[in-house]
Amino acid sequence: MHGKNNTFQTLHADLRTKLQSIVSETYLLVDETSLWDCGHDETEDLSFLPEAVVVPANTEEVSAIMALCNAERIPVTIRGGGSGLAGGALPIHGGVVIWMKRFDQILNIDAQNFQVTVEPGVVTETLQNTLKEQGLFYPPDPSSKGWSFIGGNVNTNAGGPRAVKYGVVKDYVLNLEVVLPNGDVIWTGANTLKNSTGYNLTQLLVGSEGTLGVVTKIVLKLQPLPTQNLLMLAPFRSAESACAAVAAIFQAGVTPSALEFMERNAITWAVRYLGDVQIPLTDDTEAHLLIEVDGFHLETLYKDCETISGVLEQFDCGEILFADNDATKTDLWKLRRNVAHAVKHNSIYKEEDTVVPRAFLPQLLKKVKAVGAEYGFESVCYGHAGDGNLHVNILKGSLSDEHWLVEVPKGIREIFKFVKSVNGTLSGEHGVGYVQQPYLDIMFTETELNLMRAIKQAFDPNGILNPGKVLG
Ligand code: LAC
Ligand code: ZN
Repeated sequence: MHGKNNTFQTLHADLRTKLQSIVSETYLLVDETSLWDCGHDETEDLSFLPEAVVVPANTEEVSAIMALCNAERIPVTIRGGGSGLAGGALPIHGGVVIWMKRFDQILNIDAQNFQVTVEPGVVTETLQNTLKEQGLFYPPDPSSKGWSFIGGNVNTNAGGPRAVKYGVVKDYVLNLEVVLPNGDVIWTGANTLKNSTGYNLTQLLVGSEGTLGVVTKIVLKLQPLPTQNLLMLAPFRSAESACAAVAAIFQAGVTPSALEFMERNAITWAVRYLGDVQIPLTDDTEAHLLIEVDGFHLETLYKDCETISGVLEQFDCGEILFADNDATKTDLWKLRRNVAHAVKHNSIYKEEDTVVPRAFLPQLLKKVKAVGAEYGFESVCYGHAGDGNLHVNILKGSLSDEHWLVEVPKGIREIFKFVKSVNGTLSGEHGVGYVQQPYLDIMFTETELNLMRAIKQAFDPNGILNPGKVLG
């Protein structure tokens, strides 16, 4: 996809010694296992080995590493938990990987102001659980929350099921400490809920996929922790009807805290993959909606569920399963969160992250299946239906490499063109990274791309930071 950039230097012995003097011998990793571990993420079967992995302890060390690599034209790729699905953390030009796992401190929980300052290497769920003890809530909950880092979530502008009610990561980031490619350290904003002062560098950095700077501290806003939730699983004979029911739920005046869609195979594969979770599944079920409502008053939530059930009945819904205890709720969420793992267990696959205004969801699903039939591939679809965010998992199965590399991308183009035609976009929460980069021309004009290139140039004139990602 991308040729080697000849302007980059390789990591000669002298540079290695300099890196070692910054992070110490223990934290400069050049053994095969470390290079392999940091050479891949969760994206397809892709792997690119770095020349070295450094594991800095603090902002000063990151700054020194960046200044050195910038001066020497060494490519640098930042790595968090490695859960990415667009190849954003793949060191495709080799060079140095900066692994942020020692940035693992929650620095300050400011309960009075509903804010937390956290280092980027904290696992998202660890942060959420710590906040929960104080009745505080950080909502964004990507399926990988048990192992993805909050820094990676910021860099991809991650979402997850709760985004439908609570918004995505960008809605929670107030301020960031960032190391620029030349080693300078900046703060992007202020720790305030309002800020009309200058260009919004904070939001520019959110979702920039490690191409503009290295995030070293994050200030997030928080919410009060909802005390109640109810969860229901609704089967449908038609997957398109399930999708059509989604917009109708909002029109009935309810905003669920999660509204997830799963095609039959997404559920059956996850059941088989996990082995310890069972759900009733009739032969004629094509798809499910998993719907959660949350809040502080159970009575209101029961009313919401009644309203939702009334809507679903109009879409030929089967018997709804109400999760009336914590064990069932945990099982249903475990199923949903393991769909990607289950699919990967079955076949190499391409994860598309299409998103459309939600009322177009039935058309999107129909288009995906029609394109699959035309270009000869099968797909498993699931995702955050309430957001119009459909994950399209295209299966390699027994397709030849040629078919996989030539025909399938043509089909993906068709899907993305449809998405664009209804004012959607090609990634809702996973990012562009490495694998979606060839399709950016569908989304943006040259004028728009040139603006983005100018921004990249302003931050990273030598192009050493995560080269070959987002803009290529
Ligand atoms: C999910 C990930 C793949 O929704 O985004 O499970
Ligand atoms: Zn998702």
